[in-house]
Amino acid sequence: MSRAIGGFFPLADTGPAKETSYLSLWDLSDDFTGFHNLRSAFFFLLTVLRPPRVWLPAYICTAVSQSVLRSGTTTVFYPLKPNLSPDASHLSKLLDAGDLVVGVDYFGQPPDEELLDLRARRGDVTWVEDCAQALCAPVDAWGDYVLYSPRKLLGVPDGGILVSRCDELPRATLTPLTDSSFIDAYRLRRDDEDEVDNETWHRAFRESEARMSPRLCAMSDTTRRILGATDPRPHMQSRVTNYRTLLEELGDLALFEEVPSFVPSGFPIRVKDPVSLVSDLASRRIFAPRYWPNIPTSADAFHLALALAASVLTLPVDHRYDTSHMQTIVSNLREVL
Ligand SMILES: Cc1ncc(COP(=O)(O)O)c(C=O)c1O
Repeated sequence: MSRAIGGFFPLADTGPAKETSYLSLWDLSDDFTGFHNLRSAFFFLLTVLRPPRVWLPAYICTAVSQSVLRSGTTTVFYPLKPNLSPDASHLSKLLDAGDLVVGVDYFGQPPDEELLDLRARRGDVTWVEDCAQALCAPVDAWGDYVLYSPRKLLGVPDGGILVSRCDELPRATLTPLTDSSFIDAYRLRRDDEDEVDNETWHRAFRESEARMSPRLCAMSDTTRRILGATDPRPHMQSRVTNYRTLLEELGDLALFEEVPSFVPSGFPIRVKDPVSLVSDLASRRIFAPRYWPNIPTSADAFHLALALAASVLTLPVDHRYDTSHMQTIVSNLREVL
């Protein structure tokens, strides 16, 4: 049977610490405070800053909205523009001093100039940059605070990172993890070199994801060590090269029509029936996630977000793959479309 393409990452090796690593990329000291996942890091930030309102893009996963809910803060959703940047003119009319705005670097893409102008004008608002889908913030990170979720990007089993680019935050008091079963799926996939036991590790992964919640728990030492021992540069290179290959072949479906100037997390495409396509590709052992079939608002005003939720799926471009894998994705996709 051919090896699967896509899906969560097998646990990476822990080698010796490297000078250029994910820790240096994200500007983290050796003793940085790591959370169990991004939603916990964000929850902590909200409990420290206590903003009166949090603005979330209408196109977002429910995990982020759960953190706001749990903190007791009021959520307000805002629309995106077709280029996936926040609608800055909408926000500029409605923001009050003290509000907190979350912006997502979707698939790695930073927001456009209009949002950056608004951000520069509104120093009375807190700006949070969600980099769950970005290997690195663009050269000039635009958020006062930057959030990462490394298990979406490389073979670590957990992790949520909060980088402050303004005042230093108080140190979080985190409960150490008592249950390490969330690592099982990643180990099982790593150890199943011939990928014959797909069903077992995929079930373990789904179960550990279902247990994720916003709570003040620490990142595992396993993740901490791997982040310090992994050079991100080859990962960035693979993503850019693989993305270009897919763009040449699948430009007609691409969400972004041009070669990106950022490191892409995946190759998002828009299709009429993502549900069938995901399942047809999975039957050919190609796994393409949907971000996100369920978004936390269904208000008609957010028609673009609803349309994205109903049409986008993401093809893998990460460092596990090369041009031949991209060709396999393309030929299978064309056959089932
Ligand atoms: C943009 C974005 N932000 C936040 C999260 C939540 O991250 P975590 O699962 O580490 O809490 C996700 C998860 O998919 C995400 O895609």
